[in-house]
Parts: sequence; C-alpha cells; structure tokens
Amino acid sequence: MATPSAEGRDWDKEEIQQRSFEGGVDALKQETHASNFSEDRWRSFSSSYTHDPLDGNNDGLAYYKRDEFKTLFKDTEILAKGVEYDDDAWKAGMRRYGTSKLLMVMFLYELQRRLSSDPALSAIAVLALDPGGMAGTGIARDAPPLIRFLTGPFGVFLQEILVWFSPDGQLRPPRKSGADLLAACFDEEYLGKSPKGVYLNGSERAESSVESRNEGKQQGLWEDSLGLAGGEGWCYGVEGVAVKALLDSRERDRDM
Ligand SMILES: NC(=O)c1ccc[n+]([C@@H]2O[C@H](COP(=O)([O-])OP(=O)(O)OC[C@H]3O[C@@H](n4cnc5c(N)ncnc54)[C@H](OP(=O)(O)O)[C@@H]3O)[C@@H](O)[C@H]2O)c1
Repeated sequence: MATPSAEGRDWDKEEIQQRSFEGGVDALKQETHASNFSEDRWRSFSSSYTHDPLDGNNDGLAYYKRDEFKTLFKDTEILAKGVEYDDDAWKAGMRRYGTSKLLMVMFLYELQRRLSSDPALSAIAVLALDPGGMAGTGIARDAPPLIRFLTGPFGVFLQEILVWFSPDGQLRPPRKSGADLLAACFDEEYLGKSPKGVYLNGSERAESSVESRNEGKQQGLWEDSLGLAGGEGWCYGVEGVAVKALLDSRERDRDM
C-alpha cells in the first residue's frame, strides 16, 4: 500500500490538541454510554519489535539468543506469577518487556474480534503501532549505564542520521513515531475510517509475530486473564483501553 509521508505532513499543533481532546472526550462518552456506539472509533497500542524473538532487531543485544526464549507465551498463570532467570537481569527484563508487548498484540486481535462481533460495538477499530527504537525518551532511565548511553545523547544523534536512510528502520526520533501515530489515528485517507486489527511498523503496514497471530493463544489469554482477574466477566486492557466500561455499560443497556 502507499506509505504516507507522516513526518512530512504539516501537523498543526493546535489542531492536533483539539482533535485529541475532542477524540478523548468523545471516546469517554462512548465508553460510558455504549448505546451511542454508532460512529467509527479507534483505540491504539504502542507495540515494539521486542514482541517477536525472531525479529532481527533484537539480535544485537542477544536477550532472545537461546532457543528456549523463542516462544514467549506458554502459560498465562506462569507469566502472571513472575519470571526466573539465570543470565542477566536486564536481559530478563527485556524478555519480560517483549512478552508484555506480545500479550498486548494478542489481546488486541481478540478484543477486535469481540468488538467486531457485537453490532453495537463493531464500529470500533483497535490498532497497534511499533514506534521503533526511540532514544531520548524515559524508557531506559533505569537501565545499565551502557544502555543509558546508547539510548541517551548518542542514540539521539544516531537516530537522526539512520531515519534519513531508513524511515522505518530500527532507530527513529520520537517526533517521527508521534507523527506516524497521528496519521494512523486521524488520517482517514491513509488507513480508512476504521482500521481494524491493523499492525503498523511506523508508517508502513507490517505483520506482527507468528506467535501473536495464533488465535488459540489469543483466546486462551483472554479467558485465562478473566479467570485470574476474578472471573467477573471483564478485564482491563493495557494503556487505557477500559474494556470493563464497555462491557458494564452493555450489560446495563441489556438490563434496561
Ligand atoms: N523508546 C523506545 O525505544 C520504544 C520502542 C518501542 C516501543 N516503545 C513504546 O512506546 C511507548 C512510550 O514509550 P517511551 O519511550 O515514550 O517511554 P517513556 O518516556 O518512559 O514514556 C512512558 C510514559 O508512560 C507513562 N506511564 C508509565 N506507566 C504508566 C501508568 N501505569 N499509568 C500512567 N502513565 C504511565 C510514564 O509516566 P512517568 O514518567 O510518570 O513514569 C511516561 O510518561 C511505550 O509503550 C513503549 O513501550 C518505546
């Protein structure tokens, strides 16, 4: 498909703030009054290539080197309890981070299926975007000194050069990823009005990992999560997707 030049777009700061605000208020209204779910809406997640142990971008720091690390989701309960490691705390942390991103992508597909199968909620689109490695954010603030150096001023300098050669390569400035996210959410000419279950790497459509696309695992994760959360028929997604509000209000509407 055509790749939009998201970064080249002349986004007006006030327009973005206004649209984000209106979108946020509208989303809140929608989530608390499910009967109003008539218009197309989007929800977005920040993904990461770390969700895929087979993605070559992870090779440099070798946290997925061993064969046993190539499959991340084996059992929900084990994941919920914590992790044991015998190599390096930072590498174990990176695997944990990657696993959280994998679960989020799996959750996204299952959530989209469930929303799409409900006539009252089917207009809602959920998408994920991998912003790429972005130096200069707070993500590595507690990492070892070498990683802090690489993701600090050195990385900030490097990503300005690398993004020029490879816009959706391993390293990108946050402003490029921010523009990509805005394009995915607000630019209807780019992904259409309702980009359902779409996975993006920056400004291009991409395929999430093989493991993340396993429907059996997606359903298992959803059902296990409900069980672990107390089996009350709801769960909270990551990064602000309040599924509970949706399902509660649907219940209320049905009871009325
Ligand atoms: N930077 C990268 O290389 C990279 C690569 C791929 C994906 N991502 C993803 O991009 C997203 C943004 O990351 P970033 O690099 O911008 O990191 P960041 O600078 O650390 O930003 C994360 C923001 O989320 C806030 N936050 C964290 N936990 C929260 C919670 N439970 N409730 C409310 N706010 C919370 C943090 O607030 P506080 O500062 O107050 O803690 C911080 O403002 C993340 O999802 C990350 O996984 C980043």
